[in-house]
Amino acid sequence: MKPKVLITRKILPEALSYLDEHVDYEIGAEDRYLTKQEIIAKVEDKVGLLTLLVDEIDKEVLNSAPGLRIVANCAVGYNNIDIEFARERGVMVTNTPGVLTETTADLTWALILATARCLPAADTFVREKRFTGWELDLFLGQEVTGKRLGIIGMGRIGKAVALRAQGFRMETLYYDPQPLGKEEEKRLKAVYVPLPKLLSTSDIISLHTTLTEKTVHLISYNEFEQMKNTAIIVNVSRGPVIDEKALVTALETRQIWGAGLDVFEHEPQVEKKLLSLPNVVLLPHIGSASYETRLQMAMIAATNLVAGVTERTPPNLV
Ligand code: GLV
Repeated sequence: MKPKVLITRKILPEALSYLDEHVDYEIGAEDRYLTKQEIIAKVEDKVGLLTLLVDEIDKEVLNSAPGLRIVANCAVGYNNIDIEFARERGVMVTNTPGVLTETTADLTWALILATARCLPAADTFVREKRFTGWELDLFLGQEVTGKRLGIIGMGRIGKAVALRAQGFRMETLYYDPQPLGKEEEKRLKAVYVPLPKLLSTSDIISLHTTLTEKTVHLISYNEFEQMKNTAIIVNVSRGPVIDEKALVTALETRQIWGAGLDVFEHEPQVEKKLLSLPNVVLLPHIGSASYETRLQMAMIAATNLVAGVTERTPPNLV
């Protein structure tokens, strides 16, 4: 008999065919997220669980499956899982690191450029047939080339963003609780500065930190006050790193120039006021959403899951 696993929501067919060879899987739902109570009811008799980053896997869920061996998260972030409790219960947790670095760095740059050059509004303008001819002051944005970039969180994605900044001849500053070695700083042409200095001197601030108790509302009223009023901030990490109410105030009062968000504090809900502000670009958490990357993420999560339920050590234990 194959080991029984739950996949909370439909994943790509290639990963399903692989799973089909090794496990007896149940898909929670095709086209919506399961509620926590639904996950609890379905996971009870399973030894493996494949989750998406929206599935909250807390003590209650972990306690409801006595035979559970592994939670394979289909994401690099795993703030949706109570890691400490899983460890206590002897449940392995895995993620999908590495494969989404480049795609997410690409999206970061797409968002920086879209925000700085007002692309979504300009596109809408054309579609609404309001383009009646070239104008000197139509959709004036901010120059990106040669500006100063401030990266908060210099992990894999932060570094990939820094490398791309060289193409824009930017000066790159970074803040991370664990500064890089000198060689790595040289390779990335990035200079470590304390957070307040990064906030007050950067033209473009890009967030790449993990979500922990320490990084919730890392950027709030006080931090926006320190920024230049020409500054642009983009967030491709996790929503709660920015205090969304403080962001609304900063955008409304033009304390900063603009923002680009791929993630939200109360995802998928978006702070209502953001929807009507002209100086923010909003994306539906698509940082890693290239076909190539999402396929690799699904395959890695499936491989981790199969290893975990067949008594092998999964490659991406966290
Ligand atoms: C996406 O946000 C991820 O953590 O994989």
